[in-house]
Amino acid sequence: MNTDKSKEKELLWQSRFSEPFDREALLFSSSVDVDKVLYQEDIRGSIAHVTMLSEEAIIPVEEARLIIEGLEEIEQEISSGALVPDWEDEDIHTVIENRLKEKIGPIAGKMHSGRSRNDQVATDTRLYMKRVVNELGSALKALKHLLVEKAETYRHTIIFGYTHLQRAQPVSAGHYYLAYFNMFQRDTERLDDLYKRVDTSPLGAAAFAGSTLPLNAKRSMELLDFGALFQNSIDAVSDRDIIIEFISTCSIIMMHLSRFCEDLILWSSQEFNYLEISDAFSTGSSIMPQKKNADIAELVRSKTGRVYGDLLSVLTVMKGLPLSYNRDMQEDKPPLFDAAKTTTSSVRIFTKMLAHTKINEERLAKLTGEDLSLATEIAEYLVKKDLPFREAHRITGKIVSHAIESATPLPDIPLETYKNFSELFDKDVYDALKPEASVNAKQSHGSTSFASVDEQIRAAREKLKM
Ligand code: ARG
Repeated sequence: MNTDKSKEKELLWQSRFSEPFDREALLFSSSVDVDKVLYQEDIRGSIAHVTMLSEEAIIPVEEARLIIEGLEEIEQEISSGALVPDWEDEDIHTVIENRLKEKIGPIAGKMHSGRSRNDQVATDTRLYMKRVVNELGSALKALKHLLVEKAETYRHTIIFGYTHLQRAQPVSAGHYYLAYFNMFQRDTERLDDLYKRVDTSPLGAAAFAGSTLPLNAKRSMELLDFGALFQNSIDAVSDRDIIIEFISTCSIIMMHLSRFCEDLILWSSQEFNYLEISDAFSTGSSIMPQKKNADIAELVRSKTGRVYGDLLSVLTVMKGLPLSYNRDMQEDKPPLFDAAKTTTSSVRIFTKMLAHTKINEERLAKLTGEDLSLATEIAEYLVKKDLPFREAHRITGKIVSHAIESATPLPDIPLETYKNFSELFDKDVYDALKPEASVNAKQSHGSTSFASVDEQIRAAREKLKM
């Protein structure tokens, strides 16, 4: 940044002041480095505003044409790198207006008739948000497609289901993937719902009280393709609740990804060895040649904390602000931009990594086949023979402790031994002790049986069509 005094520029609001704005204060308050991201939205908003102004005969058509042509050129200049937004212009709105002044002279000043930077920045932010909400929605959609594919591939693969991180009951891997499908489906619905509120034009609210010029806010709304128009000019420039709502949704998405990552990290460890993340998404160690680390999953997990920080940041900025606009609100943008970028890139890289992850089916078949997690099946076997569940649970507990003491997997315990625990046991108990049979014996709604998983896949495919 150039803080050389010789380059001093006039600020939009300077004329009322007799002393120039302190250089360090300007450097401190300039938002150009952050809000330059909004240049396209800003230009689009200005073109709509100027079009409306000319249609309402607030400015001459010929002048509006000059302004719009100038703005279109400036967009080219910024995107090509010919114009580098200068921090000394205070914010991106001023960068563009000053450049327009250089190009077409004082007529440029007519662009701001009936508008304040307050409704301008609110408009830019909403246009930006519509774009990033859609981008995040598409990234989630790709992830959900992959989850349904995975569910299909692995619907007959039995894995351990855990509670308290202890092996609990065998489940279909398809069932596991579909659990995450449902979480990301709700995230999608949250995004769809908040989009309706984002899709409201604040343009025409001016500073906060409206304008004495005959603005046609409804026309500006249509030109910008907004679905609704603000009702109250104070509200239009004062709230940032949609940003908070969006970052909350990002936080929930990151929380879901982070839990998923935790499973992948754990399950790809040598101790578990349930699955393998391909080399393309793993890293090594600079000192321990044998290492293969799940860094991508770890980074997604840690970026979750960063997005939570973004949420806390905007919540805290907004708390206690008197109505209407306050400069504090400029600090909404770093967390908004960061949350949008971090969440979308996390969903994308996670999807790619998951696509390159394979379940170690042989090992899981062996482990689930001899595991105590089939104990619930024994208890339910006894319940089906009319024993009260509590009694069935007690007897099964004894059998489990026998299995542990004698180091015998449940399917290898002889029938006489089972009979010693309860007369109700018969040789069909061994059918219940196959993990696949155990999974498929589930009859309740939304359970892990293959039939239920198939039904869930069908329902998920329906949702994906929407
Ligand atoms: N850079 C400011 C922001 O992002 C623009 C609005 C400035 N308005 C004002 N009254 N100072 O919020």
